[in-house]
Amino acid sequence: MNESFETFETRLATNAHAIETLLDTLLSAQVLDDEIARPESLRSAMHYAVLNGGKRLRPFLVVETATMLGGDREAALKVGAALECVHCYSLVHDDLPAMDDDNLRRGKPTVHIAYDEATAILAGDSLLTYAFDIIASTEGIDADAKLALVLALSRASGIGGMAGGQALDLAAEKQAPNEQGIVTLQAMKTGALIRFACEAGAIVAGATPEDRLRMRRFGERIGLAFQLADDILDLTADSVTMGKATGKDAGRGKGTLVGLNGMAWAEATLAEHVREAEALLQPYGNAATILADAARFTAKRKS
Ligand code: IPE
Ligand code: IPE
Ligand code: MG
Ligand code: MG
Ligand code: MG
Repeated sequence: MNESFETFETRLATNAHAIETLLDTLLSAQVLDDEIARPESLRSAMHYAVLNGGKRLRPFLVVETATMLGGDREAALKVGAALECVHCYSLVHDDLPAMDDDNLRRGKPTVHIAYDEATAILAGDSLLTYAFDIIASTEGIDADAKLALVLALSRASGIGGMAGGQALDLAAEKQAPNEQGIVTLQAMKTGALIRFACEAGAIVAGATPEDRLRMRRFGERIGLAFQLADDILDLTADSVTMGKATGKDAGRGKGTLVGLNGMAWAEATLAEHVREAEALLQPYGNAATILADAARFTAKRKS
């Protein structure tokens, strides 16, 4: 492990702490308790779904991209928190019996096990909508930036992004897609939110259209790397390390790129994604060191 990688891990932990403190407040009874009646069990399930560990990679990417491009850190943290709400909602629904039917997430019982299925569905719904509330309430960015964030996040989350990708992923269990089909579904189900993270950092920073597009493409690359690594870990890692069930993809007949092309191909492709991602960061020189580390982390992560 080289020195800059250690620096990256420390920075990931520091950002995770900041984002968790913010999420804890945003999901607290005090903040959510306005004049409208608030079902406490639903709030508690939302809090459980979010404050249960997790690498917090997506908010990290928002904050570090914004920082590299000169954006406001507090605003980036808020947008990162909104994105983490969408990500956690996607995990709650992904684990439901109708989808992957998993009992373990981040080393703890999944929301439908700890609560019940209806609460898990509603906690997911409420986290998704709350994300847009958080963005609309963010201080330190103008109305145009908020609009751009809302548009990009709805597209990344919806039928053309995460949710659409999940639908294609489930369909792929019944009829295995070809390689391009798998790449497309992975770019949607996992890639879209990671791509949004990097693009959102650029929007928060008021970046030029060129920088925004470059960071979007960077996010796209590491999004593909991230899901490829997830599929490798599903085959090679144990469930205690991962905090979730492993060995499931093959069991469910899920078409993955690792299953289709083998481990050597997957490792080589991961390296290629990292090289392409690093090339996109070239214009930023040393300011992009931490994001280059993040690209390597998505490929080399152990959990
Ligand atoms: C898990 O995402 C779901 C996928 C998209 C593969 P993460 O590996 O980022 O999960 P947490 O947030 O760290 O738990
Ligand atoms: C899920 O992919 C991606 C989401 C949109 C949640 P997986 O189903 O492979 O994620 P894990 O392995 O359960 O975390
Ligand atoms: Mg799934
Ligand atoms: Mg799953
Ligand atoms: Mg997986």
